[in-house]
Amino acid sequence: MQQVFKIARHRWRFLWEMMLLALSGMTLVYIGVFAAYELHFFEPNKDLQLSMVESQTIENVGIESIIEWGQMMIAVHYPTTTNPAVNQRLRQYANDLVNQFKQTEAPSGHGHAELYVSFRTYKSGEDILGFQFDLIERHASGSVKNETQKLSFNLRTGDEVAFDNYFDENNQPIVAQTPNPEHARVVTPESTENKKLVALTFDDGPHPEWTNTLLDILQRENVPVTFFVLGSRANHYPDIVQRAASSGHQIASHTFNHKNLTKLSPSDMRYEIDETANIIERITGGKPAFMRPPYGAIDQAVKDAAGTPLITWSVDPEDWKSRNTEQIFTHVTDHTTDGSIVLLHDMYGTTVDAVTKIIPEMRSRGFVFLTVRQLMDARGRQLENGGIYRQAAP
Ligand code: NI
Repeated sequence: MQQVFKIARHRWRFLWEMMLLALSGMTLVYIGVFAAYELHFFEPNKDLQLSMVESQTIENVGIESIIEWGQMMIAVHYPTTTNPAVNQRLRQYANDLVNQFKQTEAPSGHGHAELYVSFRTYKSGEDILGFQFDLIERHASGSVKNETQKLSFNLRTGDEVAFDNYFDENNQPIVAQTPNPEHARVVTPESTENKKLVALTFDDGPHPEWTNTLLDILQRENVPVTFFVLGSRANHYPDIVQRAASSGHQIASHTFNHKNLTKLSPSDMRYEIDETANIIERITGGKPAFMRPPYGAIDQAVKDAAGTPLITWSVDPEDWKSRNTEQIFTHVTDHTTDGSIVLLHDMYGTTVDAVTKIIPEMRSRGFVFLTVRQLMDARGRQLENGGIYRQAAP
């Protein structure tokens, strides 16, 4: 009896041990699967699976700024993330840029050395953030250096990763976000003292290629201009409009579809004006201060409906017609006088080429470039809504 009992007890204990073993085995398998999933062993190759983020802003990416305004003008903007190690690296990067710039400028002493750094953010999947930094160094000697630098990180691990993963087969960024920092004024108006004034204006854009090329040139030359954009086009290229606005250029309205407003019903005219104002406000954060009716076509109904001053022009090289760089250059430089407003179009490479020649030529003749707003303010003009202004002579 004793023997039987012992065997039974032994057997019961054996079963209990087997059960425990099975349980812990299952637990181990479960933990293994869970860990593998968490560590992305089961995910497809992440480098090939870049996801697109539609929104204009990227969640959890903030902005920090180093702003100094003394002997040098410094406005360095850099991102912050949810990872403290990444933030430390980014802060170090920004501080290094500032310190290096100060060191290289130190020998030349004083002057108007300027350093501007803005950034764009690219996102891939949940964890990967790439930052593209656009550097502009304007040295006291007068030399200007533009440069692009890139850094990207795995937010989960804090590691730096290769940035090139953020471009597709056409070398286009997977997603772009340009923060609109209040202080990012890469184009700053020069002193107008003892200078002749001129406002270059660009109609009908933005254009995906030529407006960007023009913005590069204007940034390099430190020339602020005014863009009279079409609402319909701004809708398609909000990044370009935002870039122009945050670079210190003025964004004004050229209506939505470029229709002759004098031929429209009151409600159609309202749409052309209001829809464009809303789009510009959505992109830049502010309603346009000026409107240029297409073709300069203005009647009493247009004046009444405008709600802003109407800006036309005093110099028109008909760049859209000739598409001839030399002709555009000659017409503008021959006809521009103190206070002129020049009509151009950022829709043509020939116009952009002409601008690269017009800028140094007009400067050598004692002109300084301003936005229309800056021109009117410099000349103390009081503008009325519905009033027509074609120039601002002294
Ligand atoms: Ni036009």
